[in-house]
Amino acid sequence: MNSQTTCIIHTKKLTEVSLLFICPFSQDDYWKVARVKEEKTVFRMEGVGKDNFKDIPSPCNCCLYWQTSDPFDEKTLKPEMEHKKLEWFNKATREFGNCGFIAYFDGVPIGFVQYAPPRFFPQVKEYASGPPSKDAVFLACLFIVSTEARGKGVGTAMLRGFLAELRKRKFKAVETFGRKNSENNPSGPLELYLKHDFIIKSDKDDFPLIRFEL
Ligand SMILES: CC(C)(COP(=O)(O)OP(=O)(O)OC[C@H]1O[C@@H](n2cnc3c(N)ncnc32)[C@H](O)[C@@H]1OP(=O)(O)O)[C@@H](O)C(=O)NCCC(=O)NCCS
Repeated sequence: MNSQTTCIIHTKKLTEVSLLFICPFSQDDYWKVARVKEEKTVFRMEGVGKDNFKDIPSPCNCCLYWQTSDPFDEKTLKPEMEHKKLEWFNKATREFGNCGFIAYFDGVPIGFVQYAPPRFFPQVKEYASGPPSKDAVFLACLFIVSTEARGKGVGTAMLRGFLAELRKRKFKAVETFGRKNSENNPSGPLELYLKHDFIIKSDKDDFPLIRFEL
C-alpha cells in the first residue's frame, strides 16, 4: 500500500538535496543509473501506513487541527490524541489511498506531509480565501521538525516527491493555504509555493488559497 520515493545523495552535504532530488516516478532512467552509482541512500520518503505510523514526527502525530473545525489550541496536542490521528489515516487511506509521507534522513524521521481531498479536512471551511476546489487534492501539512534541517532544500524535495505521487495517481491539481511573510503555517510560507509555480487563486487575508495544476 505504501508509496515510496527515494532521493540518492551524491555528496554528503544536506544542502544539495534539492539539486539532487531524483523522482523515480517521472525520471526512471536517471533514477536507476543513480542508484547503481551510489550505494548510500540517506534521504527517503515513505507513504504513511500501519507499520510506520509511529514514525510521524511530533507534534504532527497528535495534531488534529485540520481534522476538526475547532480553533487551534496547543493544549489539544496530547499523546492521547494519536489514536484519533490513526483513525483519520485509516479512514482516509481506505477511501482515497495514500494520504501522507514521512521523510527520513539517515533513517531518522525528519519531516511529514499530509494530504487528501478537502472533504477530509473540516478546518478548510474556516479560511476566508477558501474553500479549496473539489477537483483538487488539499495539502494540509508540509513540515520539517528540526529547525536545523530547514532552509536546505529538504522541503523542496518533499514537495516534489508529493507532487510526483499525485501526478502518478492522475490527480488534476493541488491546493493549499500558504501564509504571507511567515513560515508559521501548516504547509509553510507562500514564497515556497510561488517559487514552485503555484498560482494564487483567492487572496482575502494572510492565507491565500494557492493552486498547482499537475
Ligand atoms: C516550510 C518548510 C517545510 C520549508 O522547507 P525547507 O526545507 O526549509 O525549504 P527549502 O529549503 O526547500 O526552501 C525552498 C524555498 O522556499 C522558500 N522558503 C523556505 N522557507 C522559507 C521561509 N521561512 N520564509 C520564506 N520563504 C521560505 C524560499 O523561497 C526557498 O527558496 P530559497 O532558499 O531559494 O530562498 C520548513 O521550513 C518548515 O517545516 N518550517 C516550519 C513551518 C512551521 O513552523 N509550521 C508550523 C507548524 S504546523
